[in-house]
Amino acid sequence: MPDGVAIRPARVGDGEAIDRVIRAAFTATAFGHQGEADLVRMLDADGDVMVSLVAEKDGAIVGHVLFSRMDVEADGHAMAAAGLAPVSVIPELQGQAIGDALIRAGLADLRVQRAAMSFVLGHEGYYPRFGYSPGLAARFASPFAGPHFMAMMLDSDAAWPQGGRADYAPAFGRLG
Ligand SMILES: CC(C)(COP(=O)(O)OP(=O)(O)OC[C@H]1O[C@@H](n2cnc3c(N)ncnc32)[C@H](O)[C@@H]1OP(=O)(O)O)[C@@H](O)C(=O)NCCC(=O)NCCS
Repeated sequence: MPDGVAIRPARVGDGEAIDRVIRAAFTATAFGHQGEADLVRMLDADGDVMVSLVAEKDGAIVGHVLFSRMDVEADGHAMAAAGLAPVSVIPELQGQAIGDALIRAGLADLRVQRAAMSFVLGHEGYYPRFGYSPGLAARFASPFAGPHFMAMMLDSDAAWPQGGRADYAPAFGRLG
C-alpha cells in the first residue's frame, strides 16, 4: 500500500466523500456507475451495514469498502453472513493494494463480529486471494448465482455447508 494511506472506519460526515470515490471508481470501469453510491446510502438508512471502512491519504478519502447483512440459511439454520459490495479505490491509486487492505481489514472486522460467511459478486480473478470461492457459493440458491458469485467461510477451518439460500439485503433489490 502507498505510504501515508490509513484504513479507518467510516464516520458520520464521510458520506459525500465516499460517494465521490465510488462514482470515480465505477465510472472508470467498462460497466460504468450503476447506482453503487445510492446503494451505500440505502444500506445505511436500512441499518444493514455491518462494516464500512475508508482508506485515507493526506486527509482525503481515496477508497471505501462496505459489507452488508445478508439473509442466509445454511443446512437448515440461519447463518450470520455479510455481502461485500461495493469496494472502490480512486482510479489514480488503483493497483497499489489499497483495495486489498480494505477487504482484508473488513474481513477481520466481520470475524470480530462473529459473522460466519461472506459472499461477493465480482471478478473471479480478484476475490479468491481473500478466500472467496465460486464452489462454495454454488451450493447456495441465490438470484445472483453464476460464475461471479463467490463465498467464503470466515473461519477457514469451518466445514462448508452442504447447501442453502443466500439473499442480499433488501436495498440490493431496489437498485435501478
Ligand atoms: C476493484 C478495486 C477496488 C481493487 O482495488 P485496488 O486497490 O485497485 O486493487 P489491489 O491493488 O488490491 O489489487 C490489484 C488487482 O486487482 C485487479 N483489479 C483491479 N481492478 C479490477 C477490476 N475492476 N476487476 C477485477 N480486478 C481488478 C488488478 O488486475 C490486480 O490484479 P493482480 O494483483 O492479479 O495483478 C479497484 O480497482 C476499483 O475501485 N475498481 C473499480 C470499481 C470496481 O470494479 N469494484 C469492484 C466491483 S466487483
